[in-house]
Amino acid sequence: MAIASAPGRVCLLGEHAVVYGEPALTCAIGLRTRAEARPAPRTRVHNPMAPDSPYLREVLRWFHTRCPDQGVHLRVASALPAASGLASSASVTLAALGALNHEFLLGLSPRGLAAIGHQVERRVQGRASPMDTLTAALGGALLHPGGRRLPIPRVGLVVGETHVARSTGRMVDRVARLRGRHTPTASHLLSSIGDLSRRGETALRRGDLPTLGRLMDLDHQMLTALGVSHPRLDTLVEAARGAGALGAKLTGAGGGGCMVALAPEPQGVARAIRRAGGTPILTRPDSAGIRQETKMGGGREDES
Ligand code: PMV
Repeated sequence: MAIASAPGRVCLLGEHAVVYGEPALTCAIGLRTRAEARPAPRTRVHNPMAPDSPYLREVLRWFHTRCPDQGVHLRVASALPAASGLASSASVTLAALGALNHEFLLGLSPRGLAAIGHQVERRVQGRASPMDTLTAALGGALLHPGGRRLPIPRVGLVVGETHVARSTGRMVDRVARLRGRHTPTASHLLSSIGDLSRRGETALRRGDLPTLGRLMDLDHQMLTALGVSHPRLDTLVEAARGAGALGAKLTGAGGGGCMVALAPEPQGVARAIRRAGGTPILTRPDSAGIRQETKMGGGREDES
Protein backbone atom coordinates (compact mmCIF):
# COMPACT_ATOMS: atom_id res chain seq x y z
CA MET A 1 0.00 0.00 0.00
CA ALA A 2 1.30 3.50 -0.83
CA ILE A 3 -0.02 6.94 0.09
CA ALA A 4 0.95 10.12 -1.75
CA SER A 5 -0.20 13.71 -1.53
CA ALA A 6 -0.11 16.70 -3.87
CA PRO A 7 -0.88 20.38 -3.15
CA GLY A 8 -3.40 22.78 -4.61
CA ARG A 9 -2.17 26.18 -5.80
CA VAL A 10 -2.99 29.84 -6.10
CA CYS A 11 -2.11 31.92 -9.15
CA LEU A 12 -0.06 34.83 -7.85
CA LEU A 13 -0.07 36.43 -11.31
CA GLY A 14 -0.79 35.63 -14.94
CA GLU A 15 -3.79 33.29 -15.24
CA HIS A 16 -5.61 33.51 -18.59
CA ALA A 17 -2.59 35.29 -20.13
CA VAL A 18 -0.64 32.02 -19.73
CA VAL A 19 -3.09 30.39 -22.18
CA TYR A 20 -1.67 32.80 -24.81
CA GLY A 21 1.98 32.09 -24.00
CA GLU A 22 2.51 34.89 -21.47
CA PRO A 23 4.36 34.16 -18.21
CA ALA A 24 2.50 33.31 -15.00
CA LEU A 25 3.47 32.72 -11.37
CA THR A 26 1.88 30.00 -9.28
CA CYS A 27 2.44 28.98 -5.68
CA ALA A 28 1.55 25.66 -4.08
CA ILE A 29 -0.48 25.98 -0.86
CA GLY A 30 -0.88 23.94 2.30
CA LEU A 31 -4.15 22.36 1.19
CA ARG A 32 -3.56 18.89 -0.25
CA THR A 33 -5.15 15.84 -1.70
CA ARG A 34 -4.06 12.47 -0.36
CA ALA A 35 -4.45 9.23 -2.29
CA GLU A 36 -3.88 5.65 -1.26
CA ALA A 37 -3.27 2.87 -3.79
CA ARG A 38 -3.29 -0.83 -2.96
CA PRO A 39 -3.43 -3.94 -5.15
CA ALA A 40 -6.95 -5.42 -5.31
CA PRO A 41 -8.71 -8.24 -7.19
CA ARG A 42 -10.69 -5.65 -9.18
CA THR A 43 -10.26 -1.91 -9.65
CA ARG A 44 -12.42 0.43 -7.61
CA VAL A 45 -12.30 4.04 -6.42
CA HIS A 46 -13.33 5.53 -3.11
CA ASN A 47 -13.62 9.31 -3.33
CA PRO A 48 -16.34 10.79 -1.10
CA MET A 49 -16.04 14.32 -2.63
CA ALA A 50 -16.55 13.16 -6.24
CA PRO A 51 -17.60 9.48 -6.41
CA ASP A 52 -17.36 9.42 -10.20
CA SER A 53 -14.41 11.77 -10.80
CA PRO A 54 -13.56 11.88 -14.53
CA TYR A 55 -9.97 12.73 -13.56
CA LEU A 56 -9.59 9.49 -11.58
CA ARG A 57 -11.24 7.55 -14.41
CA GLU A 58 -8.59 8.92 -16.80
CA VAL A 59 -5.79 8.23 -14.29
CA LEU A 60 -6.93 4.61 -14.06
CA ARG A 61 -7.22 4.32 -17.85
CA TRP A 62 -3.58 5.44 -18.08
CA PHE A 63 -2.60 3.02 -15.27
CA HIS A 64 -4.24 0.07 -17.02
CA THR A 65 -2.33 0.79 -20.21
CA ARG A 66 0.87 0.55 -18.10
CA CYS A 67 -0.27 -2.44 -15.97
CA PRO A 68 -3.08 -4.13 -17.93
CA ASP A 69 -3.73 -7.04 -15.51
CA GLN A 70 -3.37 -5.17 -12.23
CA GLY A 71 -6.48 -4.36 -10.16
CA VAL A 72 -6.14 -1.44 -7.74
CA HIS A 73 -8.14 0.09 -4.93
CA LEU A 74 -7.70 3.88 -5.02
CA ARG A 75 -8.86 5.95 -2.04
CA VAL A 76 -8.78 9.75 -2.36
CA ALA A 77 -9.47 12.60 0.10
CA SER A 78 -9.00 16.28 -0.70
CA ALA A 79 -8.95 19.37 1.51
CA LEU A 80 -9.51 21.56 -1.58
CA PRO A 81 -12.88 22.97 -2.61
CA ALA A 82 -13.60 21.75 -6.16
CA ALA A 83 -13.82 23.99 -9.24
CA SER A 84 -12.89 27.17 -7.41
CA GLY A 85 -9.55 28.36 -8.77
CA LEU A 86 -7.25 26.30 -6.53
CA ALA A 87 -6.44 23.60 -9.11
CA SER A 88 -8.14 20.84 -7.12
CA SER A 89 -8.34 18.62 -10.21
CA ALA A 90 -4.56 18.74 -10.73
CA SER A 91 -4.05 18.03 -7.03
CA VAL A 92 -6.39 14.98 -7.13
CA THR A 93 -4.80 13.74 -10.38
CA LEU A 94 -1.20 14.06 -9.15
CA ALA A 95 -1.90 12.54 -5.72
CA ALA A 96 -3.46 9.50 -7.42
CA LEU A 97 -0.63 9.23 -9.95
CA GLY A 98 1.92 9.56 -7.13
CA ALA A 99 0.35 6.75 -5.10
CA LEU A 100 0.24 4.46 -8.17
CA ASN A 101 3.83 5.38 -9.02
CA HIS A 102 5.05 4.37 -5.55
CA GLU A 103 2.92 1.28 -5.09
CA PHE A 104 3.66 -0.26 -8.48
CA LEU A 105 7.26 0.97 -8.76
CA LEU A 106 6.64 2.78 -12.05
CA GLY A 107 9.77 4.90 -11.63
CA LEU A 108 8.33 8.20 -12.87
CA SER A 109 9.90 11.52 -11.82
CA PRO A 110 7.73 14.42 -10.56
CA ARG A 111 8.03 16.09 -13.99
CA GLY A 112 7.11 12.80 -15.67
CA LEU A 113 4.03 12.56 -13.45
CA ALA A 114 3.17 16.20 -14.22
CA ALA A 115 3.25 15.44 -17.96
CA ILE A 116 0.89 12.47 -17.54
CA GLY A 117 -1.33 14.60 -15.28
CA HIS A 118 -1.46 17.28 -17.97
CA GLN A 119 -2.65 14.70 -20.55
CA VAL A 120 -5.32 13.56 -18.06
CA GLU A 121 -6.53 17.18 -17.61
CA ARG A 122 -6.61 17.72 -21.36
CA ARG A 123 -8.62 14.58 -21.94
CA VAL A 124 -11.18 15.65 -19.33
CA GLN A 125 -11.31 19.42 -19.96
CA GLY A 126 -10.46 19.61 -23.64
CA ARG A 127 -7.85 22.24 -22.87
CA ALA A 128 -5.58 23.04 -19.94
CA SER A 129 -2.22 24.72 -19.56
CA PRO A 130 0.49 22.60 -17.89
CA MET A 131 0.93 25.06 -14.99
CA ASP A 132 -1.45 23.36 -12.55
CA THR A 133 -0.12 19.83 -12.89
CA LEU A 134 3.48 21.15 -12.74
CA THR A 135 2.72 23.05 -9.53
CA ALA A 136 0.98 20.02 -7.96
CA ALA A 137 4.00 17.85 -8.89
CA LEU A 138 6.85 20.21 -7.97
CA GLY A 139 5.36 22.43 -5.23
CA GLY A 140 6.76 25.85 -4.27
CA ALA A 141 6.54 29.00 -6.39
CA LEU A 142 7.00 28.45 -10.12
CA LEU A 143 7.38 30.60 -13.23
CA HIS A 144 5.44 29.37 -16.30
CA PRO A 145 5.70 28.29 -19.01
CA GLY A 146 8.34 25.75 -18.04
CA GLY A 147 7.94 25.68 -14.26
CA ARG A 148 11.21 27.34 -13.25
CA ARG A 149 11.51 27.37 -9.45
CA LEU A 150 11.33 30.75 -7.63
CA PRO A 151 11.72 31.56 -3.93
CA ILE A 152 8.41 31.09 -2.12
CA PRO A 153 6.87 34.24 -0.62
CA ARG A 154 7.35 34.13 3.17
CA VAL A 155 3.92 35.40 4.07
CA GLY A 156 0.47 34.14 5.04
CA LEU A 157 -2.10 33.56 2.34
CA VAL A 158 -5.81 33.97 2.90
CA VAL A 159 -8.09 32.38 0.34
CA GLY A 160 -11.67 33.67 0.20
CA GLU A 161 -14.38 31.45 -1.20
CA THR A 162 -17.29 33.23 -2.87
CA HIS A 163 -19.28 29.99 -3.28
CA VAL A 164 -20.25 31.24 -6.74
CA ALA A 165 -19.99 28.26 -9.09
CA ARG A 166 -18.21 28.68 -12.40
CA SER A 167 -16.45 26.63 -15.03
CA THR A 168 -12.83 27.09 -16.09
CA GLY A 169 -13.68 26.16 -19.70
CA ARG A 170 -16.44 28.79 -19.96
CA MET A 171 -14.20 31.53 -18.54
CA VAL A 172 -11.35 30.60 -20.92
CA ASP A 173 -13.88 30.72 -23.81
CA ARG A 174 -15.09 34.14 -22.65
CA VAL A 175 -11.56 35.55 -22.95
CA ALA A 176 -11.15 33.87 -26.36
CA ARG A 177 -14.39 35.52 -27.59
CA LEU A 178 -13.32 38.95 -26.29
CA ARG A 179 -10.01 38.47 -28.06
CA GLY A 180 -11.88 37.57 -31.25
CA ARG A 181 -14.09 40.69 -31.11
CA HIS A 182 -11.63 43.27 -29.78
CA THR A 183 -8.31 41.77 -30.77
CA PRO A 184 -5.90 44.70 -30.18
CA THR A 185 -7.44 45.71 -26.83
CA ALA A 186 -7.66 42.17 -25.45
CA SER A 187 -4.19 41.28 -26.71
CA HIS A 188 -2.83 44.42 -25.09
CA LEU A 189 -4.44 43.47 -21.77
CA LEU A 190 -3.07 39.92 -21.97
CA SER A 191 0.46 41.10 -22.73
CA SER A 192 0.21 43.69 -19.91
CA ILE A 193 -0.68 40.83 -17.55
CA GLY A 194 2.44 39.06 -18.83
CA ASP A 195 4.47 42.17 -17.93
CA LEU A 196 3.09 42.05 -14.39
CA SER A 197 4.28 38.43 -14.10
CA ARG A 198 7.77 39.42 -15.27
CA ARG A 199 7.89 42.16 -12.64
CA GLY A 200 6.48 39.71 -10.11
CA GLU A 201 9.33 37.32 -10.83
CA THR A 202 11.84 40.05 -9.91
CA ALA A 203 9.86 40.96 -6.78
CA LEU A 204 9.76 37.33 -5.64
CA ARG A 205 13.50 36.90 -6.23
CA ARG A 206 14.12 39.98 -4.06
CA GLY A 207 11.61 38.92 -1.41
CA ASP A 208 9.85 42.24 -2.08
CA LEU A 209 6.34 41.39 -0.88
CA PRO A 210 4.86 44.94 -1.01
CA THR A 211 5.70 45.13 -4.74
CA LEU A 212 4.30 41.63 -5.34
CA GLY A 213 1.09 42.72 -3.57
CA ARG A 214 0.75 45.86 -5.71
CA LEU A 215 1.23 43.76 -8.85
CA MET A 216 -1.52 41.40 -7.68
CA ASP A 217 -3.87 44.38 -7.19
CA LEU A 218 -3.13 45.57 -10.73
CA ASP A 219 -3.58 42.07 -12.11
CA HIS A 220 -7.04 41.87 -10.53
CA GLN A 221 -7.97 45.11 -12.32
CA MET A 222 -6.75 43.77 -15.66
CA LEU A 223 -8.58 40.47 -15.16
CA THR A 224 -11.69 42.51 -14.37
CA ALA A 225 -11.25 44.41 -17.64
CA LEU A 226 -11.02 41.04 -19.40
CA GLY A 227 -14.45 40.21 -17.97
CA VAL A 228 -13.44 37.33 -15.69
CA SER A 229 -14.10 38.81 -12.26
CA HIS A 230 -17.42 38.76 -10.38
CA PRO A 231 -18.97 41.30 -7.98
CA ARG A 232 -18.54 38.84 -5.08
CA LEU A 233 -14.85 38.46 -5.91
CA ASP A 234 -14.43 42.25 -6.08
CA THR A 235 -16.12 42.63 -2.66
CA LEU A 236 -13.81 40.09 -1.00
CA VAL A 237 -10.73 41.58 -2.68
CA GLU A 238 -11.67 45.06 -1.40
CA ALA A 239 -12.36 43.73 2.11
CA ALA A 240 -8.96 41.98 2.23
CA ARG A 241 -7.12 45.12 1.10
CA GLY A 242 -9.03 47.23 3.65
CA ALA A 243 -7.87 44.84 6.38
CA GLY A 244 -4.19 45.27 5.55
CA ALA A 245 -3.50 42.69 2.84
CA LEU A 246 -0.44 43.61 0.74
CA GLY A 247 -2.40 42.61 -2.36
CA ALA A 248 -5.48 40.63 -3.34
CA LYS A 249 -6.88 39.17 -6.55
CA LEU A 250 -9.03 36.43 -7.96
CA THR A 251 -7.20 33.14 -8.45
CA GLY A 252 -7.66 30.81 -11.41
CA ALA A 253 -10.30 31.24 -14.05
CA GLY A 254 -12.48 33.69 -12.08
CA GLY A 255 -16.20 34.31 -12.64
CA GLY A 256 -16.69 33.09 -9.03
CA GLY A 257 -14.61 30.57 -7.12
CA CYS A 258 -11.89 32.01 -4.90
CA MET A 259 -9.73 35.09 -4.36
CA VAL A 260 -6.36 35.14 -2.61
CA ALA A 261 -4.75 37.79 -0.41
CA LEU A 262 -1.10 38.22 0.56
CA ALA A 263 -1.55 38.73 4.28
CA PRO A 264 1.22 39.42 6.84
CA GLU A 265 -1.60 39.46 9.44
CA PRO A 266 -3.93 36.76 8.20
CA GLN A 267 -6.41 36.74 11.09
CA GLY A 268 -7.62 40.30 10.42
CA VAL A 269 -7.89 39.65 6.69
CA ALA A 270 -9.81 36.42 7.34
CA ARG A 271 -12.27 38.28 9.61
CA ALA A 272 -12.81 40.96 6.95
CA ILE A 273 -13.49 38.32 4.30
CA ARG A 274 -16.02 36.63 6.57
CA ARG A 275 -17.73 39.98 7.33
CA ALA A 276 -17.94 40.60 3.59
CA GLY A 277 -19.81 37.30 3.13
CA GLY A 278 -17.00 34.99 2.02
CA THR A 279 -15.50 31.92 3.65
CA PRO A 280 -11.84 32.50 4.53
CA ILE A 281 -9.24 29.73 4.45
CA LEU A 282 -5.92 30.55 6.13
CA THR A 283 -3.05 28.82 4.44
CA ARG A 284 0.63 29.20 3.53
CA PRO A 285 2.88 28.74 0.53
CA ASP A 286 4.06 25.12 0.51
CA SER A 287 7.44 24.16 -0.88
CA ALA A 288 6.55 20.46 -1.20
CA GLY A 289 5.05 19.02 -4.35
CA ILE A 290 4.03 15.41 -4.70
CA ARG A 291 5.29 13.38 -1.77
CA GLN A 292 4.89 10.07 0.00
CA GLU A 293 2.81 9.99 3.19
CA THR A 294 2.35 7.46 5.97
CA LYS A 295 -1.36 8.07 6.66
CA MET A 296 -4.37 9.48 4.85
CA GLY A 297 -5.12 12.41 7.27
CA GLY A 298 -7.19 15.46 6.41
CA GLY A 299 -5.03 17.23 3.82
CA ARG A 300 -4.58 20.49 5.76
CA GLU A 301 -0.86 21.10 6.34
CA ASP A 302 -1.38 24.34 8.17
CA GLU A 303 -3.74 23.61 11.03
CA SER A 304 -1.04 23.40 13.71
O1 PMV B 1 -9.69 28.01 -12.23
P1 PMV B 1 -8.56 27.05 -12.44
O2 PMV B 1 -7.92 26.65 -11.13
O3 PMV B 1 -8.97 25.86 -13.27
O4 PMV B 1 -7.39 27.82 -13.24
C1 PMV B 1 -7.51 28.20 -14.60
C2 PMV B 1 -6.30 28.97 -15.05
C3 PMV B 1 -6.38 29.49 -16.50
O5 PMV B 1 -5.18 30.23 -16.75
C4 PMV B 1 -7.55 30.44 -16.67
C5 PMV B 1 -6.51 28.37 -17.53
C6 PMV B 1 -5.26 27.51 -17.70
O6 PMV B 1 -5.41 26.36 -18.17
O7 PMV B 1 -4.12 27.99 -17.42
